[in-house]
Amino acid sequence: MRINAGVQRGRIFMIEVDGTPTQVFEGETLAAVLLALGRADARADLRGRPRGMFCNMGTCCECLVEVTVPGSRHPRRMRACLTDVAEGQSVGSNKTWSKYE
Ligand code: FES
Repeated sequence: MRINAGVQRGRIFMIEVDGTPTQVFEGETLAAVLLALGRADARADLRGRPRGMFCNMGTCCECLVEVTVPGSRHPRRMRACLTDVAEGQSVGSNKTWSKYE
C-alpha cells in the first residue's frame, strides 16, 4: 500500500518484477516497490526461509534481489533498500542466497 495523501510522486514507468510488468514511480526504491506489492520477502536463505527488509538502510543485506538493467547481460545482486528503480529494470526476488556468498 502506498501513502497517497499529500505525497508528490515522480514520473510513472514500468519495470518487471518476477516477470510481471509493474508500475513504479521515479525516485522510489525496489524495497518500496516490493512492499507496495504486498511483499515482505525479498529473497530466501539457504534453507528456503523467506528473508525481507529489516534495516532498510543497507546494513543487513536481507533484501538482496537480482537486478538486470537494459544493456547488461548479467543480473547483479543488489540491496533492494538502496537501489532506485530504473526504466527497463528487471527484478527477480525469492532467489535463494546466503547474504555471505
Ligand atoms: S533491508 Fe537491510 S540492507 Fe536492505
